[in-house]
Amino acid sequence: MDLNGKRIVITGATSGLGLEVLNLLLKYDVRILAVGRNMTDVPQDEKIFPLQCDVSSQQGVDKVFAEASEKMGGIDLFWANAGFGCYQQFGEPDWVKMEQIFHTNVFSPYYSLQKMLTLYPNQKMLFMVTDSIAGLLEVPGFALYVATKFAINGGMSAIQYEVPKHVTVSIIYPVATKTRFFERAGTSIDKAGPVQSSEACARAILRGIQKDSKKIYPYTLWLPFNFFLKYIPFIKHFTLKTLNLQLQRKWGK
Ligand SMILES: NC(=O)c1ccc[n+]([C@@H]2O[C@H](COP(=O)([O-])OP(=O)(O)OC[C@H]3O[C@@H](n4cnc5c(N)ncnc54)[C@H](OP(=O)(O)O)[C@@H]3O)[C@@H](O)[C@H]2O)c1
Repeated sequence: MDLNGKRIVITGATSGLGLEVLNLLLKYDVRILAVGRNMTDVPQDEKIFPLQCDVSSQQGVDKVFAEASEKMGGIDLFWANAGFGCYQQFGEPDWVKMEQIFHTNVFSPYYSLQKMLTLYPNQKMLFMVTDSIAGLLEVPGFALYVATKFAINGGMSAIQYEVPKHVTVSIIYPVATKTRFFERAGTSIDKAGPVQSSEACARAILRGIQKDSKKIYPYTLWLPFNFFLKYIPFIKHFTLKTLNLQLQRKWGK
């Protein structure tokens, strides 16, 4: 997508990947609705319309679309990026936590895409969603998060076949990236691997936008790694088993 003149919505623009890409986008002739709950780090710029909003509910997403219409007259690129992780031993019953994580990571992106397709049916558009390598790999310790990201990968990949030619649905699969994600999820990035800087990840996402890529893998070494995981199942099994043993030791099992 040629970015110049485009009206962009970014959810989760207040921190991490969203904020990093937002800053890169400012060198283009764009208008951006920057959405999140804590606006402290969002730069003040005439190209940015900050919107303090929780996107984990239908009302929240509706508010984003109403604001985009009012401030920018529509949307050319919608990036459903808001999301969070949850690092825990699976078992403690917690309906509320499951609702929160599915509402934010799954329902919100799907509902946003439904709104884009309904409100702008004939318009050329790019819809991006931040998935994760955890949407492709069953990482122990992150079961609920993995469930949400697999849900994104599966459904959005199906939708990629359905949408008309003028609509591009793009799925982003970052590896562990240095943002506040791990701290917020209740763990540390030291335990993860491979790891990428948020700057490098953001640059790769920007290249993906410019090329209208349907699948964006910001960490290119993931592709050969994935080849081994996919075609030599023992490697995957061994890697995940070892990770799980470390977790069980940590959790005193
Ligand atoms: N970092 C990684 O290792 C990694 C790897 C793969 C995928 N991802 C995905 O990348 C995306 C961005 O995460 P990040 O790494 O940039 O982490 P981050 O620094 O924690 O940023 C998360 C962003 O999501 C926003 N957000 C979360 N819940 C929200 C809600 N209910 N309403 C509105 N905004 C909400 C946060 O804004 P407020 O707090 O201001 O509301 C923040 O801007 C997420 O979808 C995450 O799953 C991250």
